[in-house]
Amino acid sequence: MIVLGIETSCDDSSAAIVRDGSEILANIVAGQDQYHQKYGGVVPEIAARKHLEHILGVIQHSFDSAGLTPDAIDAIGVTHRPGLVGSLVVGLTAAKSLAWMYRKPLIGIHHIEAHDYAACFAGMPYGIPHVALVASGGHTSLLYMTGQTLRLIGQTVDDAAGEAFDKVAKLLGFGYPGGPIIDRMAAECTPDEPGNLVFPRPMLNRPDFNFSFSGLKTAVMYHIKTQPDTPPRETARAFQDAVVDVLITKTLRAAAACRVNIVSVVGGVAANSALRSQFAERCRHEQITLYIPPARLCTDNAAMVAGLGFQKLLHQPPDNLDLGVDSHSGLSLAL
Ligand code: KG4
Ligand code: ZN
Repeated sequence: MIVLGIETSCDDSSAAIVRDGSEILANIVAGQDQYHQKYGGVVPEIAARKHLEHILGVIQHSFDSAGLTPDAIDAIGVTHRPGLVGSLVVGLTAAKSLAWMYRKPLIGIHHIEAHDYAACFAGMPYGIPHVALVASGGHTSLLYMTGQTLRLIGQTVDDAAGEAFDKVAKLLGFGYPGGPIIDRMAAECTPDEPGNLVFPRPMLNRPDFNFSFSGLKTAVMYHIKTQPDTPPRETARAFQDAVVDVLITKTLRAAAACRVNIVSVVGGVAANSALRSQFAERCRHEQITLYIPPARLCTDNAAMVAGLGFQKLLHQPPDNLDLGVDSHSGLSLAL
């Protein structure tokens, strides 16, 4: 079965074509970083307008690069929640129009569940019980996933991890998105840097699986103000160390609580090189099987949407053309 996926939940317009949920025939992503850069974060109104400009070209490009025409696809998967409403509407409208024109089944996809599906491209069997860490610009969530069921067991109580990377990068005078820049800067530290500069690990010692990053951001801001001579790479590294430590420790604790030894790490922040290498080391040590997709499948993309669309269509009927968008995830804490 060949599925077209469409993703526009935040600021990336993406279309992908995936065969049988596993073979990526095309995965086109048009980013918008240049339009949001001067604001230091995504401006919803600009995002929606740019999706409108990009979406048809991106879909056409995906067909061209797969060497297929719309007649060749069997179904359309589209992200319809959660996300920015104006952004979601553009992708959903494009998907519905194609579904109607070409008489193809339409399936609405949950963005967080789709992020987790990216781990299946890295070898994770679909539906296997596991704990997922979804860390992006909009979400930091821990989920217990089994079969078709997602159970939210922890989430950020304020900023998302990616948002903290973006805000700290802004404080340090770097561009947007800040995550990749902090990642690069931190890697420039010598083995004895950042010395004794250690930022707090928020909520690490709490028994729940929630996160908080806004106090950490404030601690970085205070440090920059009071110690302006600290090289930015050292501040970046100490900040990244704190985030990575909290994310790994809480995820592995959640896996133990859920009695699973399989963990997926997905979302834009999973592209972080320190997070990837330290997760791999800690999981090896604790005999946990870790699935982290390649970086291009960690950030927003439609291949994960098409892949999950395939699986959903095996298990449930398609959606009607009156499917709507929802800014909320519809998930509430359960544990
Ligand atoms: O999943 P994604 O593309 O979009 C959302 O759904 O939010 O994630 C984007 C976020 C941004 O906050 C970006 O700074 C962060 O992921 N990010 C990173 C890295 N690459 C992207 N954060 C840390 N290190 C990276 N290498
Ligand atoms: Zn995302």
